[in-house]
Amino acid sequence: MWAGRTEQLSDWRDVVRPRRLAGLPERGRTILGEPGLGKSTLVRRIAQEASRAGDWVTPQLRIPAGSDPLKLVATAVLKLAADAGLPTSREKRIGDAIARVQAVALSGISLTLRGVDGPEPYSALTELLVEVGRAAIAQGDVVALIHIDEVQNITDENALSQLLIALGDALTHEVEVTVPGGDRVSRSLPISVYLTGLPDFEDMTGARKGATFARRFKTTTLYAIDDDDLAEALQEFVLEGWKVPDGAGGVAHIRMAPEAAALIVDICRGEPFLFQLAGEQAWYAGETATITASQVRAGWRGAEREATAHVERILERLPARESQFVQAMADLPAAERTLTRIAEAADYAKTTDAGPTAQRLDTVRGIIQRGKPYSFRHRAVEAYLTSIWPTL
Ligand SMILES: Nc1ncnc2c1ncn2[C@@H]1O[C@H](COP(=O)(O)OP(=O)(O)OP(=O)(O)O)[C@@H](O)[C@H]1O
Ligand SMILES: [Mg+2]
Repeated sequence: MWAGRTEQLSDWRDVVRPRRLAGLPERGRTILGEPGLGKSTLVRRIAQEASRAGDWVTPQLRIPAGSDPLKLVATAVLKLAADAGLPTSREKRIGDAIARVQAVALSGISLTLRGVDGPEPYSALTELLVEVGRAAIAQGDVVALIHIDEVQNITDENALSQLLIALGDALTHEVEVTVPGGDRVSRSLPISVYLTGLPDFEDMTGARKGATFARRFKTTTLYAIDDDDLAEALQEFVLEGWKVPDGAGGVAHIRMAPEAAALIVDICRGEPFLFQLAGEQAWYAGETATITASQVRAGWRGAEREATAHVERILERLPARESQFVQAMADLPAAERTLTRIAEAADYAKTTDAGPTAQRLDTVRGIIQRGKPYSFRHRAVEAYLTSIWPTL
């Protein structure tokens, strides 16, 4: 089931893709969020859509902790080059660019360390991406899309900076094209980059790298999905049902009672991971053609531990100050959650000392919202800290 995220999908369909196709500058996208908010799934969906439209798309490149991202990205760029038909090109420039990226795919960042003659790995990557972009222009109506997931795992600073420069340089690169009438004009390449990962990535691009990075990539933080969007997604289940084989060569429909759908929306608190979990458990909780509210309850009881563990993982990842802040905030009655009261409860000497923590929890992590009063954006975290949830 897919729910919500219309803004992010429309950003790709209506802004990023058309602008890059038209040769206009448009930043890459960085999509961050707490575990389970659907970052990987979102960009996978964008990539699927792109691929169906004929775009050249890398597979989702998941960076394992501590691995060399340049090798992985170089391999993916070689695949884009293959999609673009570059390996059959007889131009020496292109053959050389491919050979250089093949070396990066083999040795990664250690190419720099060995001080091998020739350009740094990042410039080899940029060069080949530019060739891919040129080929996309020649082909027409094609964007090359690169998706790198779990970017917070790139712990080697040099590798991270080479990677961001390589991708950023390709995004800002302009080529001259001839327009009808024979004039030459500069345009950007039809290339787009999506980076996804945990909010911690924000710190890794801060300070020195910050300004350049922000000029080249636009960061969005994912929040919980609105209940209305979840209900809308389930409505298809309520009205038409889900097609399954009936065991006799035909098709049967599994439907969901309206109360069952409402209950799923209520228990998952806008959290995509919990939404899938509640739905899946309800599905397996019975064998009737209509999923009932009591099946949702029974299923959720079996999932309680997993739901608890999921939210605990989010809380455990928070640095001590942030975790203390969130706890103090949860302990106050909703109407009294002002910065002053929270700072007092969390033992800050001055209210203003709590400001930076509150700001991080809001803008970087998307767990709270600094309104009047403060409230939780992450409603599963709130439920866990303030009630007996996930127990029904
Ligand atoms: N828009 C959505 N509608 C319905 N379900 C979704 C949506 N987005 C994600 N999900 C589901 O939520 C679960 C978690 O999604 P995903 O793995 O993409 O999260 P993530 O943010 O990448 O998490 P992590 O930080 O752990 O990698 C998946 O089971 C996915 O199917
Ligand atoms: Mg993920």
